[in-house]
Amino acid sequence: MTYNKKLTSLACVLFSTALMGNNLIAATNPAALLPIDCMANAKIYPSRDYALNVWPKDSIVAEVGIFRGEFSKKIIDIVQPQKLHLLDINLEPFNRTNITGYEEKTQIQEGDSSTLLATYNDGFFDVIYIDGDHRYEGCKKDAVEAFKKLKVGGLLVFNDYTHFDQFACRPYGMPYGVPAVAHEMLLDPSLNLTISYLALQPSGFYDLGLLKN
Ligand SMILES: C[S@@+](CC[C@H](N)C(=O)[O-])C[C@H]1O[C@@H](n2cnc3c(N)ncnc32)[C@H](O)[C@@H]1O
Repeated sequence: MTYNKKLTSLACVLFSTALMGNNLIAATNPAALLPIDCMANAKIYPSRDYALNVWPKDSIVAEVGIFRGEFSKKIIDIVQPQKLHLLDINLEPFNRTNITGYEEKTQIQEGDSSTLLATYNDGFFDVIYIDGDHRYEGCKKDAVEAFKKLKVGGLLVFNDYTHFDQFACRPYGMPYGVPAVAHEMLLDPSLNLTISYLALQPSGFYDLGLLKN
């Protein structure tokens, strides 16, 4: 390869890397820096399954976005909620065997999660697990509605709290918004939320649990 050709190919690599970087940055909503006070009592757990051990037992729980129901089964096994509300816009993938034996304590609803959440009384839930629409607008609607429906002392948990989702942001064609939404909620003094825990996951898609004070 001549010197000129080498230079041209290096320039191509640098240009495409820069272009890709810009796309990726543009596809992720930046999350605001948080103050230390909101994490003063935060715990860190090895996984989201482990974190289920700190959810209150015999509680009223909602899982927003359930897909096949595999995490719903873990909630049932570990938390044993008094009532589990499962919400998803599409129940086709849901595998009912995941709630076997718990049918009477489970309510399953199909529809847009923020619209469904709005039908509950304020202060109804002990825990709301948000894992539906991960785009900024959808996640924000869920979070705002969920906050109202949560008891004081309740947990608002954001799944897929990741600052960079290389898989989801492009197909969605909209900025990925989970951390931006979670941080906005934490920074709103009228909500009085603090971080209860960060649950790690090997994939880097963490859970952030917020306490409603
Ligand atoms: C990542 S999956 C949930 C996985 C599940 N929580 C688990 O941990 O196994 C996201 C789910 O959110 C649902 N979803 C997306 N947008 C939604 C919306 N606006 N309302 C309700 N559900 C929605 C999808 O249908 C999908 O089943």
